[in-house]
Amino acid sequence: MKLVFATNNQHKLDEIKKIMNGLTEIVSLAEINCHDDIPETADTLEGNALQKARYIKEHFGLDCFADDTGLEVEVLHNAPGVFSARYAGPGHDSEANMNKLLQELQDKDNRKARFRTVIALILNGKEYLFEGIINGTITREKRGGSGFGYDPLFVPDNYSQTFAEMGNDIKNQISHRAQAVKKLTTFLSNNIF
Ligand code: IMP
Repeated sequence: MKLVFATNNQHKLDEIKKIMNGLTEIVSLAEINCHDDIPETADTLEGNALQKARYIKEHFGLDCFADDTGLEVEVLHNAPGVFSARYAGPGHDSEANMNKLLQELQDKDNRKARFRTVIALILNGKEYLFEGIINGTITREKRGGSGFGYDPLFVPDNYSQTFAEMGNDIKNQISHRAQAVKKLTTFLSNNIF
């Protein structure tokens, strides 16, 4: 059985293949010859994940799943959330996004935040959603050199290092995305054979 993962991000593909451990064949957008700019115009993570998965189902007729992730900061009413990639503007610039977040939180003592990933799956004509959450706090300065996005600013609860300091091996065991992927994997192992 083949399942399309609606991404061209090689890191995400590798990560998910590792977690799925051969359970099912995962193919990328490039492998199905999809080079479209898939719209992500919803105002929730669920909406965006479903929008991407539905696009593949409609245009390519294939079972598929898609993910969307956001950093939700409590004192900012869950911003940047669905706008995490373009918080400081349309350029997808992580440094600018982190600087903006630090600025917004400059005089705030409540530093609570969470990463939330939603995966939308379309399988045999039905839609399913899986969610992964990791709670933590936002630091007052950037720390660490690994990872991507907001990793240098996020310390998960019960850890003292930021995601960018702990490295990908530990991060990928506990992260929001890993938790959502594990739920998807459990669901698939119970439903496709
Ligand atoms: P995406 O939906 O996975 O593309 O994530 C949207 C945005 O959220 C990214 O551009 C990053 O800014 C941020 N983000 C998602 N996952 C992570 C993560 O694991 N660490 C840090 N930032 C992340």
